[in-house]
Amino acid sequence: MIEVKNLHKKYENIIAVNDVSFKVDKGRTFGLLGPNGAGKTTTIKLLCGIIKPDSGTVSLNGRTDPTLIDVRRSLGVVPQTLAIYEELSAEKNLRFIGRMYGLDSQILNSRIAECLEIAGLSKRKKEKVAKYSGGMKRRLNMVCSLLHEPSILLLDEPTVGVDPQSRNLIFNTIEKIKKQGRTIIYTTHYMEEAERLCDTVAILDHGKILDIDNVANLIKKHGGPSHIEAEFEEIISDIEKIKKYVDNTEIQFENNIIRFKTSRPMESLAKLNQSGLRFHSIKVQTANLEDVFLNLTGRRLRD
Ligand SMILES: Nc1ncnc2c1ncn2[C@@H]1O[C@H](COP(=O)(O)OP(=O)(O)O)[C@@H](O)[C@H]1O
Ligand SMILES: [Mg+2]
Repeated sequence: MIEVKNLHKKYENIIAVNDVSFKVDKGRTFGLLGPNGAGKTTTIKLLCGIIKPDSGTVSLNGRTDPTLIDVRRSLGVVPQTLAIYEELSAEKNLRFIGRMYGLDSQILNSRIAECLEIAGLSKRKKEKVAKYSGGMKRRLNMVCSLLHEPSILLLDEPTVGVDPQSRNLIFNTIEKIKKQGRTIIYTTHYMEEAERLCDTVAILDHGKILDIDNVANLIKKHGGPSHIEAEFEEIISDIEKIKKYVDNTEIQFENNIIRFKTSRPMESLAKLNQSGLRFHSIKVQTANLEDVFLNLTGRRLRD
């Protein structure tokens, strides 16, 4: 289990982490969703003890000092900046890390083979990392943290700059790791990733957590209305009549198309159906985490 209480971290005049508190139960995946500069990497660094907080506490499986060797052994970290050696092969990178963790050589050999397989690098294990594509490097960077089978995994934007194939491989690996009951913290500025992978998501901006909840609840609380676009088979002649059916005065008309917002899309559509007009097509755009972020901060996740 991970518990973080009132973490503060200031760099010169920037407050990078501002009173951050959260709890992640064993086996759960917790997302930190926020734009560049939100404080995601600083939080990860505080969690694994690379930097010390100005105040506040971190507890990993009940242990409060992440720099102690046995606490380190329970922790896998996938850093945002690649932490692999370009002049070594994938196999040698993994062997080097395994030795650092003091893994027994027989166990190490089978773990290396397994990790190369997970990363899809078995065939190219003897080549220098310098020759790899960006996606291959990211995949290796990820499995380096899995080698010693940690119970807690911290992943800092593991898919930034990768091709769609590598991204899928990374997702599938994380989904497998989740099933093994490991506890995961996943940082990202892609709302689709948080929606797909995380049981609970914290919305982070300017070092502050604005809310923590599961995705459905975050959208319910902060997402705002759904957008409906209905195209009719004929041009709408009686606009006032339609307005009555959707209880909405801000309805937009354009030939045979209407657009409006509603917090109850299914009910609105059922009512509209009673108008007797025939639909050609209907688009319902429900709110997502991007809307949540926009409504909480007034800005988008990505510029
Ligand atoms: N070593 C550092 N020295 C000074 N400022 C830093 C340092 N690291 C991060 N920052 C600042 O702290 C804030 C949070 O950064 P960071 O944690 O890297 O955010 P994120 O990972 O969400 O993009 C940013 O404003 C960033 O410029
Ligand atoms: Mg970062």
